[in-house]
Amino acid sequence: MILIQFTGLSGSGKTTLAQNVRHLLADKSYSVEIVDGDVYRKTICSDLGFSREDRYENIRRLFQVGQNFVKENTIVLMSVINPYENLRNELRTYEFVRTVYLDCSIANLIKRDPKGLYKKALLPDHDINKINHFTGISDVFEIPCHADLVLKTDLETEVFSTNKLYDFIIKNLSE
Ligand code: ADX
Repeated sequence: MILIQFTGLSGSGKTTLAQNVRHLLADKSYSVEIVDGDVYRKTICSDLGFSREDRYENIRRLFQVGQNFVKENTIVLMSVINPYENLRNELRTYEFVRTVYLDCSIANLIKRDPKGLYKKALLPDHDINKINHFTGISDVFEIPCHADLVLKTDLETEVFSTNKLYDFIIKNLSE
């Protein structure tokens, strides 16, 4: 089985690619689960914020959830920013884990900004709507040194990145 730990900034395409690939895999009768940070932060991680400690705890909890699905022979797509190299490396020690980096320039993310979050992160300090500690703007994102697959989501088309990820998963399932 396989668990994909995504890593990439907000808006880099994690949820979109995970959903596209889930459809393709489901069409071939694979069991697939998306474990999405945005979703679980409303339920079992609703007590957590965006400090280093809380992000660690968030990803650890989601990995637990993912591991349970893996035990049931389900392909897991863990869709989280996952900004820290140490934690990614810790998860990589599990033989069923693969690391997929969604690489997209900050300039592009600011331009796209589908959720309007970058705009809020870039507000002046005194503004009450400002989001602080926003990954890539005012909080760290460590570029992964050990990604098994890199998808350049600002240069590749959505279909191209989706197919590349799908092929990668199929290839790694049979290894
Ligand atoms: S992680 O760092 O712990 O891996 P996670 O993927 O669960 O993050 O959540 C990221 C999502 O939370 C973003 O896509 C965005 O919608 C929202 N968010 C709210 N505040 C922040 C922030 N300060 N930094 C990053 N994302 C934030």
